[in-house]
Amino acid sequence: MTDSTRPFTTTDAGIPAESDEHSLTAGPAGPILLQDGYLIEQMAQFNRERIPERQPHAKGSGAFGHFEVTGDVSAYTKAALFQPGVTTELVARFSTVAGERGSPDTWRDPRGFALKFYTSEGNYDMVGNNTPVFFVKDPMKFQHFIRSQKRRADNNLRDHDMQWDFWTLSPESAHQVTWLMGDRGIPRTWRHMNGYTSHTYMWVNAEGRQFWVKYHFKTDQGVEFFTQHEADQMAAADTDYHTRDLFEHIAKGEYPSWTLYVQVMPYGDAENYRFNPFDLTKVWPHGDYPLIEVGRMTLDRNPTDNHAEIEQAAFQPNNLVPGIGPSPDRMLLARLFSYADAHRHRIGGNYQQLPVNAPTSPVHSYSKDGAMAYRKTSDPVYAPNTKGGPAADTERYGSPPTWQTDGAITRSAYVSHAEDDDWGQAGTMVREVLDDAARERLVDNVVGHLLNGVTEPVLERAFEYWHNVDKDLGGRIEDGVRAKQDEKDPKAGEQGNPARRSMRSKA
Ligand code: NDP
Ligand code: HEM
Repeated sequence: MTDSTRPFTTTDAGIPAESDEHSLTAGPAGPILLQDGYLIEQMAQFNRERIPERQPHAKGSGAFGHFEVTGDVSAYTKAALFQPGVTTELVARFSTVAGERGSPDTWRDPRGFALKFYTSEGNYDMVGNNTPVFFVKDPMKFQHFIRSQKRRADNNLRDHDMQWDFWTLSPESAHQVTWLMGDRGIPRTWRHMNGYTSHTYMWVNAEGRQFWVKYHFKTDQGVEFFTQHEADQMAAADTDYHTRDLFEHIAKGEYPSWTLYVQVMPYGDAENYRFNPFDLTKVWPHGDYPLIEVGRMTLDRNPTDNHAEIEQAAFQPNNLVPGIGPSPDRMLLARLFSYADAHRHRIGGNYQQLPVNAPTSPVHSYSKDGAMAYRKTSDPVYAPNTKGGPAADTERYGSPPTWQTDGAITRSAYVSHAEDDDWGQAGTMVREVLDDAARERLVDNVVGHLLNGVTEPVLERAFEYWHNVDKDLGGRIEDGVRAKQDEKDPKAGEQGNPARRSMRSKA
């Protein structure tokens, strides 16, 4: 029986479908006919539903919202979206890094914190994480780092041995690993975590003055975390817990929000600051550069088609608008290339024409054609022209944010500043930020992680790594691992590992 209040099914060409249930056959027992175009369309579309998942950050979800400026940072940036009183629509996506699209939301991992602001001067993408630092500082190491966190070639399993092999050979990872193994390594929900640019960016004000800046989106819900045990239980009970939590809270009208603060460094401070301000493994202590309030981000609208609006959302750190520019952070500079390349591969050349990626400000681009071109082009199709086509306003927009550089072309480490080392800020976190209970959980988390498949000599290097972060912490981690090994196999420890005997006898 037909219900006239419901729309009738059509093919993708809008032709009324004959049935939702029965294929066209030559008699009830006969073969299916090739002329059943609707059946063929259903099967063909189904086979093409999945697009490649993001290489890192495959598992995630997001929502729409807005950002309202509550402070006044116009002395530091002319960016339209940060001017007093302005409100800007945005889309946000949160994610884990290493897991695939079906992986549990509550695995220990940094979380992506990606925002696309639809500003009056084009899209501005802030593609950050829930941590203020990162594991490596040179993009040459990024691909290797991600591979070490994903799956082995032979058994297709994740492997703590290769994770620690990479980390212990990359001491610059110590700050981020300390953070990861602590409470914030597993946020309770996406609503209960902060977001950071992590990188240093440049801001430019209306007079052309330049500043270095770092963003801190602090959750208005308060920071909350899962212990390892709680997270393991949740991974078994509800793989999609964070995705569900965000969607359900927004659906109920309980809109999460974050207050954006910035740290602003005068341009000239960078050269002699005690830490290299462009080194992504370091923070700027709040005491040096205090937080300045900018505004509030609120998420208040769920996607209605997760694939179209979130899976096909394409964030790219090179979407920078007038008043905001990059800094000499090498990781950031590499990211300016990498993301658009990933989108062209994963979604297709005209991905910026999809509704979620299209700016709400006018587009007058000379790009044209290509697969799935949707935005219409018109003549003239070239520049310069005398035919009334768009012309770049170089007077207004022609001076990109810039900085001084010199020296021969080289492959080298960053210039070291007075207090730069790999262990110092990680040690400060352990000694001055964490309380006893948080330190205890950190020790437990590291011990549990190391006992899960890490072999000699990587294990020995891991102990040294933690000793370098903090002597006392390193001792507790080593003792914790060795005690558990002894419980399992009392003989193996003393005989098997001369290094262990020597370290213990020194102690
Ligand atoms: P502060 O005492 O001013 O700041 C310490 C910050 O640590 C807090 O503001 C909070 O960041 C963050 N924090 C608190 N608990 C944890 C935790 N369990 N895991 C990770 N971060 C936590 O000191 P400083 O600015 O001088 O920094 C001292 C150390 O704090 C740094 O070496 C760094 O390890 C860590 N830190 C510093 C940040 C910065 O940008 N200065 C940011 C985050 C951590 P928040 O307020 O952002 O929640
Ligand atoms: C996703 C590359 C460092 C945050 C991605 C993707 C690539 C990539 C290729 C998948 C993009 C896609 O298919 O949509 C790199 C490279 C890096 C780097 C080459 C360093 C050289 C970082 C850092 C951060 C970060 C330091 C945080 C500060 C993110 C986030 C996503 C992502 C949040 C997911 C965005 C989304 O939700 O779609 N990265 N990345 N990345 N990256 Fe990075």
